[in-house]
Amino acid sequence: MQRCDALARHSELPGGLTRVFLSPESRAAGEAVLGWMREAGMRASLDAMGNAVGRYEGERAGLPCLMLGSHLDTVRDAGKYDGMLGVISAIECVHALHQQKKKLPFAIEVIGFGDEEGVRFGTTLLGSRAIAGTLAPGVLETKDAAGTSIARALQMFGLNPEHLSRVQRKKGEVLAYAELHIEQGPVLEAEGLPVGVVTAINGFSRLRVALRGEAGHAGTVPMALRRDALAAAAECIVTVERTVKNVPELVGTVGRIEAKPGAINVIPGEVHFTIDVRAPVDDVRLEAVDELRSSISRIAQRRKVELEIETLQEFGSSACAPWLMRQLERAVEARGVRVRRLPSGAGHDGMAIKAIADIAMLFVRCKGGVSHNPAESISEADAAVGAAVLLDFIHEFKPLSA
Ligand code: GLV
Ligand code: MN
Ligand code: MN
Repeated sequence: MQRCDALARHSELPGGLTRVFLSPESRAAGEAVLGWMREAGMRASLDAMGNAVGRYEGERAGLPCLMLGSHLDTVRDAGKYDGMLGVISAIECVHALHQQKKKLPFAIEVIGFGDEEGVRFGTTLLGSRAIAGTLAPGVLETKDAAGTSIARALQMFGLNPEHLSRVQRKKGEVLAYAELHIEQGPVLEAEGLPVGVVTAINGFSRLRVALRGEAGHAGTVPMALRRDALAAAAECIVTVERTVKNVPELVGTVGRIEAKPGAINVIPGEVHFTIDVRAPVDDVRLEAVDELRSSISRIAQRRKVELEIETLQEFGSSACAPWLMRQLERAVEARGVRVRRLPSGAGHDGMAIKAIADIAMLFVRCKGGVSHNPAESISEADAAVGAAVLLDFIHEFKPLSA
């Protein structure tokens, strides 16, 4: 818990927590994590994508690894457990093994992924996709709001984008990936359980919409003659809500909007906004996205504003591996906790790592289901149960082939 507090101090937001990919704050947090990894008996360094990577060798050097971890970047005005709790818990587990001088028939790697949230570049899971080797060609040219590309940001961070292929792991090098994460929802709290076992991570689609009307004088242009891009966007946002509302487990969010020129006495001429759509069933999500594209285009036509819709990113729903879930469930039962399986509505690094290894996730109870909010909170007792379950799981871990 103290380490979560310590990491939360590396922030660009005074009095709150915002730490985006490849920022000075992310360097400071990464350095702190590398120090804790070394103290826990790991060899640790930043990889070429800015992930903090620690390795604890097994009975012999160079064995395939059980990969653990989570992310070190945050959303804007974030809580201090989303991501960080998983990295810190994994380091604690390795520390416990190291103190007992225990070596296992596999190595353990703990990763503090540099980018999971996608806040800076609008595209998520950059750290874990680099490790999985699934970054799309050209992704390094993606620019942040200031016009800095990922490639340039890596260089400014002291990393060499040309070394990116070295970050990639091959299938077989990673026996499995297990991540502890705060639940970010209300289910475990409602059922009085400290931890739960994730069944699958919901898929998502992220879109960016641009609407272009005509800027004009707020006092002189009659209502019937306006092409107000912000009023059009308002109608689109309500449509997003209406489209997803009555479909069980489908959710949609407009989380960011920008209106230009942005003055009290000017009709907004240009608006950009994002849409995030998620569902456990991929077809349900894709159908909703199609419907949204058609409705938004009808709104734009009727209001005579130009429209551009860009798909920023899509990820299918990612199932956790039953063989890993069973091992995690045994560790939960060993703590005397009833096993509760639940899906994840939030995205996680496992979605990307699944391309090279089977994945599992353990959720830790979250106060009030509140997350992506500075009020995010967990109890020390639950954090301890989570870490203890993770440690039992590591002790008992049997790769699928064994
Ligand atoms: C990450 O937290 C996401 O689900 O957007
Ligand atoms: Mn998050
Ligand atoms: Mn997270």
